Amino acid sequence: MDSGLEHIVAAETVLSDVDGANGQLTIRGYSVESLAADASFEDVVHLLWSGFFDDLPDRTALGRHLGQARMEAFARLRPHFGLLAQSPDMEGLRMALSFCRDGDGFATAIELLAMSAVAVACVSRVRSGQETVPPNPESGHGDDVLHMITGRAVAPSHSRGINAYFSTVAEHGLNASTFAARVVASTQAGLTSAVIAGISALKGPLHGGAPGPVLDMLDGIGEPDYAEDWIRQALDRGDRLMGFGHRVYKVRDPRADALKAAMHGLPRSDGRLHLAEAIEHVILSRLAIEKPERNLETNVEYYTAILLEALAIPRTEFTCVFACARSAGWIAHAQEQLATRRIVRPKSIYIGPGLVAAA
Ligand code: ACO
Repeated sequence: MDSGLEHIVAAETVLSDVDGANGQLTIRGYSVESLAADASFEDVVHLLWSGFFDDLPDRTALGRHLGQARMEAFARLRPHFGLLAQSPDMEGLRMALSFCRDGDGFATAIELLAMSAVAVACVSRVRSGQETVPPNPESGHGDDVLHMITGRAVAPSHSRGINAYFSTVAEHGLNASTFAARVVASTQAGLTSAVIAGISALKGPLHGGAPGPVLDMLDGIGEPDYAEDWIRQALDRGDRLMGFGHRVYKVRDPRADALKAAMHGLPRSDGRLHLAEAIEHVILSRLAIEKPERNLETNVEYYTAILLEALAIPRTEFTCVFACARSAGWIAHAQEQLATRRIVRPKSIYIGPGLVAAA
């Protein structure tokens, strides 16, 4: 019995190869570093969805469909922003996606990407007492999400930053949320149900919920000089240091460096890159001493936190923004699973009491 299923192969996929021993992530033949540096989110969505929808349009038309779908999502969700804002971040997102009908075609897929983007951006503004910002169908998806969240014109460096982020986290093999999405897809429940399953799994602090607490940790440490004591106390309490460790990567997570490279493209005054680098150095040294046999390295969530903060995205929304990008991967995996026409149904071993004889 393998409770974390770490040695079980549960799917064949053409989508990505997570090479944990060598710290490499390949997405449909492209390294994550090259996608982070050169691809827009629409490019990555088109790459991931190719071959999974009979009516997938070309890359340019996909961008137009997505822009139009954001407009429709805004019109549909607008009367409900206040209600959605009463639920915390991921719960509000889950509720918003429940407005989508289930289906397994391109129209449902694009609607899910648009609904999640509009819900996250607009509900975040309502929660903080600000006016919502309507989408602009002419903008790239990443730029529009950032504009709807911050209400500010998106500088070219920030445009590169958000697209690097979306392209980096859109797909990552059979992680917990993707597996959840594939299990639901295997029942033929539909894409909306699969994406909501993914969101529900991503919500947990051990998966997608880590980047907000990364910033809480940086705030708590304050200065690199205080890092050693703070970290030692946290580890003595048995706390996990958010943004470190990974089930598959036993060397550095390549996505951490892709996002760090994106940070270097921002003005020096944006964000806390230097503090983050100094604290990361102390944490890695301490983890190597405390857990020498574990190979605990920096994961994607550490530099996610640093980058999204620099882009002025509120930390309460980090996991939701992650979900907006990862939905593209969940949808591709759901379609791939559906094509196998086989329901996922593993076995369990019964360890309860034996049959009780009737009195
Ligand atoms: N800080 C301190 N100790 C850690 C950490 C950490 N971040 N991660 C693992 N460990 C320790 C565990 O306490 C355990 O030690 P022990 O055997 O002495 O008790 C050992 O390393 C192995 O831990 P596991 O839980 O077996 O590792 P697993 O592969 O199951 O967990 C996980 C991976 C969940 C990511 C873990 O490293 C963790 O909790 N990290 C912090 C949360 C985080 O950053 N999550 C984001 C991951 S990326 C993503 O999902 C998008």
